[in-house]
Amino acid sequence: MCGALRASDAGKKAVLMGWVNRRRDHGNLLFVDLRDRSGVTQVVINAERNAAIHEKSAALRNEYVIAVIGAVKLRDANTVNANMPTGEVELVAEELRILNESKLPPFLPSDTALTNEETRLKYRYIDLRRDVMQFNIELRHKVAKAIRDYLSAQEFFEIETPFMTRSTPEGARDYLVPSRVQPGTFYALPQSPQLFKQILMISGFDRYFQIVRCFRDEDLRADRQPEFTQIDLEMSYPQPERVWEVVEGFLTAAFAAAGVAIKTPFPRMDYDEAIRLYGIDKPDLRLPAFTDVRDCFSAENVQELAINANLPVIAIRTPKVGELSRKERDDIKPMFHAKGGAKIFEDFKRISNKFPEAAAAIAKKTGMAEDDLIVLIAGSVQSGAQAALPAQRKVTPQELAIYSSAGLLRLALAQKYADRHGIFKKSGDAAKDFRFLWVTNFPMFEWDEGDKRWNAAHHPFTSPHEEDMAKLESGVEALNDPLSPLSAVRALAYDVVLNGTELGSGSIRIHRQDVQSRIFRALGMTEEEARARFGFFLEALEYGTPPHGGIALGLDRIVMILAGAESLREVIPFPKTARAVDLMVDAPTPVGEAQLKELGIAIRRAKE
Ligand code: AMO
Repeated sequence: MCGALRASDAGKKAVLMGWVNRRRDHGNLLFVDLRDRSGVTQVVINAERNAAIHEKSAALRNEYVIAVIGAVKLRDANTVNANMPTGEVELVAEELRILNESKLPPFLPSDTALTNEETRLKYRYIDLRRDVMQFNIELRHKVAKAIRDYLSAQEFFEIETPFMTRSTPEGARDYLVPSRVQPGTFYALPQSPQLFKQILMISGFDRYFQIVRCFRDEDLRADRQPEFTQIDLEMSYPQPERVWEVVEGFLTAAFAAAGVAIKTPFPRMDYDEAIRLYGIDKPDLRLPAFTDVRDCFSAENVQELAINANLPVIAIRTPKVGELSRKERDDIKPMFHAKGGAKIFEDFKRISNKFPEAAAAIAKKTGMAEDDLIVLIAGSVQSGAQAALPAQRKVTPQELAIYSSAGLLRLALAQKYADRHGIFKKSGDAAKDFRFLWVTNFPMFEWDEGDKRWNAAHHPFTSPHEEDMAKLESGVEALNDPLSPLSAVRALAYDVVLNGTELGSGSIRIHRQDVQSRIFRALGMTEEEARARFGFFLEALEYGTPPHGGIALGLDRIVMILAGAESLREVIPFPKTARAVDLMVDAPTPVGEAQLKELGIAIRRAKE
């Protein structure tokens, strides 16, 4: 391989095959950097030693594929390249074969400046030759293998589940596959193997996993692809802690495969606490938490600032931002997207001038250093009275508006001033700061204000807390009330979060058919609708279903974070664009009339 030769090989004969990475023509001497996936070796073609080869080598261009037979020679001391593992040697060519030519590529794997992403994706095979991409794809292999080995050693079976199936609700739209044999009917590609893995528990395979492709037609972002890979697992009879232990085990193995040691067990936090401290259910623990500074203001202050005395006042502290200019301060306001009646005080200096006592108390309570930025988010007087909450629900809708507005601003500020605080840096110690977290006790249901109905916060197969079963029963009697007892039903659901990214999500499942039916009812499904969509599953639940639970983690996201990449496209060999297009093969495409006819499909074109 082109990355293999070392000083100890000097004097040996070697055969190398690979791509011409670069050529430097010094008249009688031609240097060719020969590249394959393992690295680069310098080949020397010397006209004085071998005129025939030198003549042949005149034809060589970038990305030609060649074979060289030659003698391994130590380089002169002044030409040793300490930056290359093979930098102490070179291969003096004795025979040269051109195995294939190459057209001039639109960009070169050895280019240091990156070309635009469209060109990279269209010519993905060239892009994948770049050493960063070779590194990322190898990392992906190593991570997947470490996880597979770990779970196999824990006696999990890897079992395949169908891709041509029917819809599993995970909150996105389905990709559909038309059936030719039964025109007018469609398979759905799985959004996840959720129901199959539960059925595998009913089938007696009490520890299952699968590194599996999932398909979701949803709005794409840097961390979302329409087809992506899950590490999906399910076990019978677990407590949540048992699932967490398995996940911590395979993540330790996966990170070790990338040379990173992580600490387990991961800290745990209630959903409500995450909202109160970070305003989001996937907190980035590298940044400071909120501080509620409501008690730093006197009654007069509150009145003068026209803020709501009964709601929290959130201080967002962003470290090391330094003094802001007038313009920079003005730029903060548009970054704030207020929910409910939340309002912003971005000029802490002004607060300090007007309310020096309050400001001093805030500085103390938040642990503010001199160059930290403090921005306050409070409820306006119009936020309305605090709602009376059912027991066990700790955050009111009015509070949630403030926390979640502040949560988004906290992240936006951290992004904007990333250069100053350095917490997000992809190199040095910052790059090795992996803060894992389990977020637990999510609410079971979310109120959809638009449709005036309840949605499953995780998915409808998640078990409610045993103590909240009574609320579920009374809640289904008042389905159109956002403050019904359903709002207080907690789920046995958990997410594993890393540096503000949701890596995975899971739960203990419902194993009783009557509970499952009640959940479908709470989600506004009639008995008939539930039977029509999930009849097979409701029936299976009646044949001795063991208690079970599991989780799925995004493999692409894990590799992206380990690679220090900004997008899943950097760690998926053949990804799709934000418009769900594969630019290399040019998919999706229209199909011919004959094929449509066979499928019984007619395309209705929108009128001009
Ligand atoms: P969930 O829908 O939360 O749970 O998905 C689990 C994990 O899969 C990853 N993920 C994605 N990665 C890339 N692109 C996407 N479009 C995408 N969507 C999801 C995320 C996410 O945390 N069946 C349940 C799991 C369970 O309950 O066991 C499920 O699919 O990392």
